[in-house]
Amino acid sequence: YRRLRVALLGAGAVGSQVAGLLLKHRAELADRAGADLELVGIAVRDTSAARDVELPDELFTTDAESLLLGADIVIELMGGIEPARGYILQAINSGADIVTANKALLATHGSEIFDAADQVGASVYYEAAAAGAIPIIRPLRDSLAGDRVNRIMGIVNGTTNYILDRMDTEGADFGDVLKQAQDLGYAEADPTADIEAYDAAQKAAILASLAFHTTVPLDAVYREGITSIDAAMIESARKADMVIKLLAVCERLTANDGEGESISVRVYPALIHRSHPLASVHGANNAVFVEAEAAGPLMFYGAGAGGVQTASAVLGDVVSAARRHVAGGVGVGESTRANLPIVPIGHVTTRY
Ligand code: HSE
Repeated sequence: YRRLRVALLGAGAVGSQVAGLLLKHRAELADRAGADLELVGIAVRDTSAARDVELPDELFTTDAESLLLGADIVIELMGGIEPARGYILQAINSGADIVTANKALLATHGSEIFDAADQVGASVYYEAAAAGAIPIIRPLRDSLAGDRVNRIMGIVNGTTNYILDRMDTEGADFGDVLKQAQDLGYAEADPTADIEAYDAAQKAAILASLAFHTTVPLDAVYREGITSIDAAMIESARKADMVIKLLAVCERLTANDGEGESISVRVYPALIHRSHPLASVHGANNAVFVEAEAAGPLMFYGAGAGGVQTASAVLGDVVSAARRHVAGGVGVGESTRANLPIVPIGHVTTRY
């Protein structure tokens, strides 16, 4: 097989698993991708930090910029805006395809990155940027490209679902469960992103942009986190046969006269009846309902966080990138060019 040079940026909960799986399944992945995927290096801040997976010392470097030179595929799993943004732009301009799970970056600088990739015919893959292991980016971008999505509703943050679920089922303490979610590798480096719903808002912006073929800026997403949810609120919900879940809702709204459309994207803790399928999403799982005009309702369910689970989505993207390289294809591109007005409110009345 032709050899492709793969550079990895970041070796945290997801990155270390991706590296481990790339090395472990190298032969099998080569058959599947039609290219030998050589992991040429892993750029990290601290080469002596503890990792979840044992990896050869010689792969590690602190010199990301040198590592990027000559890479065919760059996997960015460092998170955060800078230096991730700079490295991705550098990699695109030196001819690499990008695989990233960086929702914070895509939700804030997605257009800049997609435009840079379009200009040089590179591709940006980001299946792992929303809902962990669940395939949801490709279904929205590709499988449903011929349909009309009217609504997306779901649980898109594993950490907060884990916290709310354990508080509900075991009466666990908020702080204790948050600590467990961090130890299990579910939470962001700064868990404020999870509990204040910045992470869910970023994912909602990404999903809504794909679903409605537009660009939803992060500041147009209504956001409310779960830090005000206490045991008493969970108990009151239980008495009413309800459960509290952090919901993301992305909706296409049609004006009353049937003329004109806008969209609403919002993330907030909501009361859900125990008989609703979303009420039985436990632990760090996620679930995303998509309602499309022709397809009707679709449901996507599975692990929304976790290192090895999210690594599955990253590796799928790496195989896609490799196949495209081998085929000498042009960029996948982004078809999110329509401009729907966004309703800057979070209180559209809906019942679940
Ligand atoms: N911190 C994120 C979550 C990781 O808990 O869902 C997956 O994106």
